[in-house]
Amino acid sequence: MAKVIHVSKNVGLGLLVLAAIALLTIIALSVSLDKEKAKKRGGNSEDKATGSTSGPITTPFPPKEPWDKYRLPESLSPVSYNVTLFPRLKPDANGLYIFTGESTVVFKCVKETDLIIIHSNKLNLTNFDGFLAKLSAVGEASSPSILKSWLVVKTEYLVLQLSRRLSVGAMYVLHTEFQGELADDLEGFYRSEYTDDGVKKVVATSQMQPTYARKTFPCFDEPAMKASFNVTIVHEGETVALSNGIKTDSADSTIDGVPVKVTTFEPTAKMSTYLLGFIVCDFVSIDSMPDSNLL
Ligand SMILES: *[C@@H]1O[C@H](CO)[C@@H](O)[C@H](O)[C@H]1NC(C)=O
Ligand SMILES: *[C@@H]1O[C@H](CO)[C@@H](O)[C@H](O)[C@H]1NC(C)=O
Ligand SMILES: *[C@@H]1O[C@H](CO)[C@@H](O)[C@H](O)[C@H]1NC(C)=O
Repeated sequence: MAKVIHVSKNVGLGLLVLAAIALLTIIALSVSLDKEKAKKRGGNSEDKATGSTSGPITTPFPPKEPWDKYRLPESLSPVSYNVTLFPRLKPDANGLYIFTGESTVVFKCVKETDLIIIHSNKLNLTNFDGFLAKLSAVGEASSPSILKSWLVVKTEYLVLQLSRRLSVGAMYVLHTEFQGELADDLEGFYRSEYTDDGVKKVVATSQMQPTYARKTFPCFDEPAMKASFNVTIVHEGETVALSNGIKTDSADSTIDGVPVKVTTFEPTAKMSTYLLGFIVCDFVSIDSMPDSNLL
């Protein structure tokens, strides 16, 4: 026996109206989607046209300054750095763990510019005659003077406005001195703690990847900006200092009346900043050379 589904006239009408509403909604949505897409395309072409004089400029933001961009300009290329770091494994009078350091970078000018833009993040930079860095030239070239220096927190830059342009092909030397916090934040040169027989021990170690080298010393902190690094670590006598290269020297010295060791490492290969590593700890190390019979 066939079952007949009986739909009352009212219910049938109701269903019909619902279907019509659904159809209208779909049409309305797809029309507004098309409009939205068209708007986006229009917006993009306006962006591209900002540089030309034709048409009104509707971009809500003024053109970006070079220091507002997250990518470094291509005008300067680092060659080699001298980096010296001195981590304090005991807190200072304010209960803050800090490190001090200085960095000298030799760089080449590859495109004329009167700006030096270099990464620096969360570092307190020393003032030299009112400016946050010192600039000189290598060889015969004379160096422009610094007119203005400032930090850009958002893009993590130190910016120097120069009195005139740097010459293409010439090499310059930028020197900075700084103080940073040896924080337990796993970023850059940081503090790690452990307990040994109930005694708290502090280790200074590093994590540069992806962009924390700039929190350790001012540097051109992009992977393609490769350079070689001459690392020096100042540390308390009973601690061990490690870095990328083989240790070349460890001399006794005193800083602020405190006996320290000044450990130097052989220059690294030309490499990216994020590959740097530093450790100061009181672990005992065991030296061994690969057994030639096993190779
Ligand atoms: C680092 O050491 C190498 C080898 O001694 C040297 O050629 C280079 O100029 C040094 N870098 C700096 C910034 O002085
Ligand atoms: C880098 O350090 C080495 C060794 O201390 C020194 O001879 C050299 O002059 C330094 N380079 C610069 C550019 O200051
Ligand atoms: C850097 O300077 C600021 C402001 O003077 C200060 O609060 C901060 O503790 C300093 N940081 C370090 C690591 O010295």
